[in-house]
Amino acid sequence: MTKSKTIYYCQNCGTQSATWLGKCNNCGQWNTFVEEIVQSTSQKNKHDSNNFQSVPQLISEISDIPISRIDSGINELNRVLGSGIVAGSLVLLGGDPGIGKSTLMLQSALAMPDAKILYVSGEESSIQIKLRASRLKQKNNLCYIVNETNTQAIFSHINAIKPQLIIIDSIQTLQTSSLDSSAGTVSQIRETAAELQRFAKQTNTPVFLIGHITKDGMLAGPKVLEHIVDVVLQFEGDRNYGYRLVRATKNRFGSIDEIGIFEMTQTGLREVDNPSEILISQRDEDTTGVAIAATIEGLRPLLIEVQALVTAAIYGNPQRSSTGFDLRRLGMLLAVLEKKCGHKFGIKDVFFNIAGGIRTEDPAVDLAIIAALLSSSLDIAISTKDCFAGEISLSGEIRPVSRIEQRISEVQKLGYKRIFIASNNPKLPENNHIKVIRISKIEHLLAKLFIN
Ligand code: TYD
Ligand code: MG
Repeated sequence: MTKSKTIYYCQNCGTQSATWLGKCNNCGQWNTFVEEIVQSTSQKNKHDSNNFQSVPQLISEISDIPISRIDSGINELNRVLGSGIVAGSLVLLGGDPGIGKSTLMLQSALAMPDAKILYVSGEESSIQIKLRASRLKQKNNLCYIVNETNTQAIFSHINAIKPQLIIIDSIQTLQTSSLDSSAGTVSQIRETAAELQRFAKQTNTPVFLIGHITKDGMLAGPKVLEHIVDVVLQFEGDRNYGYRLVRATKNRFGSIDEIGIFEMTQTGLREVDNPSEILISQRDEDTTGVAIAATIEGLRPLLIEVQALVTAAIYGNPQRSSTGFDLRRLGMLLAVLEKKCGHKFGIKDVFFNIAGGIRTEDPAVDLAIIAALLSSSLDIAISTKDCFAGEISLSGEIRPVSRIEQRISEVQKLGYKRIFIASNNPKLPENNHIKVIRISKIEHLLAKLFIN
């Protein structure tokens, strides 16, 4: 008879405890411990002992096989994965509900015409998936759909079909018969992911896991999942805008610098090859509070439009609001501007936005933000042919940013005539198409920007 044992798991970080705790010692969250029934250790060991087949090998004797990669059918996805899906890899795709995770995976499955694929859905019926597939207007006659949540049943389907790629939508709905706890709990997620990982490694079949994100933006359930998988992809973007970014936060087979950019359309996700052109709106010459920043997202240059609105504060406490940019960093930039240029932002409301629902953490955006704030505050428009790339230090100095040549060639391609950069950026080759304006301190920006 199977002896059962209960353990309390923190549903946030996966910490276990023999007794219930009000506050998790590890992540500090309250009320996250849930009792889960796990199989007794002796039973588990007995079961596992039959599977001990590993033999230690000398590193010099292990054959040097190059990583084989499969084309996912979507260039932007290949790019983030590091030029394709690695055989035998376990990839986790996380993102907010409704962002398009199921769409991306189904679209990739349909875009691989010769590959046999098993799409396991625990969330939607086969009819719903078929409806989505008809919207996508792509065809793969070897794509199987199954509604199943039990891993043992899934493995039996896999043995029958022998797919070349498996997609699990989502890991939170899976359940293994070896545990009694309900689907979505830490022990179930950990165990089912581990079963899939063993399967992927043994058969060299890649497995994609779709994972949910909690309201705090963490991958739901556990950090443990991130340790098990080979690649963690984050699907981001604002649901109200069409643009979506896929970013790797962990990749055992490639760099985590690349991003994939998509646009959600009526017929699924469209790959965006020239993101800069789309993120920038056409504006009139006299629009104030708008500036263009030459940023680098991943390895690609990306021009983004920053928008600021500075108005007199009616209530005692001036308002600060920021979309797509860290509010504290905006506060810091306002403080530097106030101290160095004497603008009284303390009595102004400041609203800040990055167009297109994009988020950026590239420090090179600082200079464009300062320019947009000055433009809105003084009500003077910045020329539509100007753009910016520079980081601001606490002392008000403009600091150089990385890969300036790449940024300049991108802005030049899009027809900009002037770029403002830090004066101590390295010397650049002669360029007659774009005027590079070097500034050392933010006090000097105003004169160079508005007085030609
Ligand atoms: P979905 O893939 O179901 O999101 P997730 O699996 O991440 O929860 O996509 C959901 C949204 O995408 C939904 O709001 C509808 C929209 N959508 C389109 O705009 N066009 C399309 O062709 C498809 C398939 C979905
Ligand atoms: Mg979904």
